Amino acid sequence: MQIDGAVVVVTGASSGIGAATARAAAAAGARVVLAARREDRLAALAEELGSARGAALAVRCDVTDPAQVADALQAAVDAFGRIDVVVNNAGQGLQGTVADVDLEDVRAVLELNVLGPLVVMQAAVPHLRAGGGGSIVNISSGTTLAAVPGTGPYAASKSALEKLSAVARAELEPDGITVSCLLPFATSTEFMTSIRAGREAAEEMTAGATFDPPERVAEAVLDLVRTGAPQVDLVPRAYGGSA
Ligand SMILES: NC(=O)c1ccc[n+]([C@@H]2O[C@H](COP(=O)([O-])OP(=O)(O)OC[C@H]3O[C@@H](n4cnc5c(N)ncnc54)[C@H](OP(=O)(O)O)[C@@H]3O)[C@@H](O)[C@H]2O)c1
Repeated sequence: MQIDGAVVVVTGASSGIGAATARAAAAAGARVVLAARREDRLAALAEELGSARGAALAVRCDVTDPAQVADALQAAVDAFGRIDVVVNNAGQGLQGTVADVDLEDVRAVLELNVLGPLVVMQAAVPHLRAGGGGSIVNISSGTTLAAVPGTGPYAASKSALEKLSAVARAELEPDGITVSCLLPFATSTEFMTSIRAGREAAEEMTAGATFDPPERVAEAVLDLVRTGAPQVDLVPRAYGGSA
């Protein structure tokens, strides 16, 4: 679908890939809705992207809370009249071996990385249907393409998201809604500092890797919106991908 003129909701827009995606969508002519928990960051980005002329809206929203998500999407519709695109980008890393990882950490990451996008899709679908269709892009991870020690719970959360996305894609095709997944490679964002646990091991694992800039991932998100392709990865062949 066309991005120019579309209303694009981005979760996790307060930093990294989400912020870059919001900037890229705005540059391509979209009106953007920025959702995350850090309101100061969202307000600054919304101002940068033109909140004063109605081109951007900041909405505080914890994506694990269905009531907050419903309110945020309603605020988007109230401001812009409709929603055309949803980028489910909010997420968090977790590094830990299957034998030792803390179960509370795993529960929290599953809640955010799997239930979060599900909650947002459930709230967004009625709005997308009302507009006659749209696009959902779910941000997965290249970790699903390999079996790297220490990535199990995080990769499992993203594998679950990929399956959920594939089934949603089949279910929503009759409504003219495409559901796509993007699998980024290591990307230079706040991901390593916001990781739930295992930062040192995660940094060791990625030492020597060439990190992508978030702007590269953002362009890939916009390409998925335009093409509606089911899945694209940015992972080099040496790491099991196709990039
Ligand atoms: N960086 C990488 O190497 C990499 C590679 C593959 C995939 N990914 C995926 O890319 C996505 C974006 O990550 P990033 O690299 O850009 O990291 P990041 O800079 O840490 O961004 C994460 C974003 O998620 C938001 N978020 C976290 N919990 C939230 C919640 N409960 N409700 C709403 N928003 C929440 C954060 O905002 P607030 O804290 O303000 O809420 C932040 O904007 C994630 O899904 C991640 O798994 C990243």
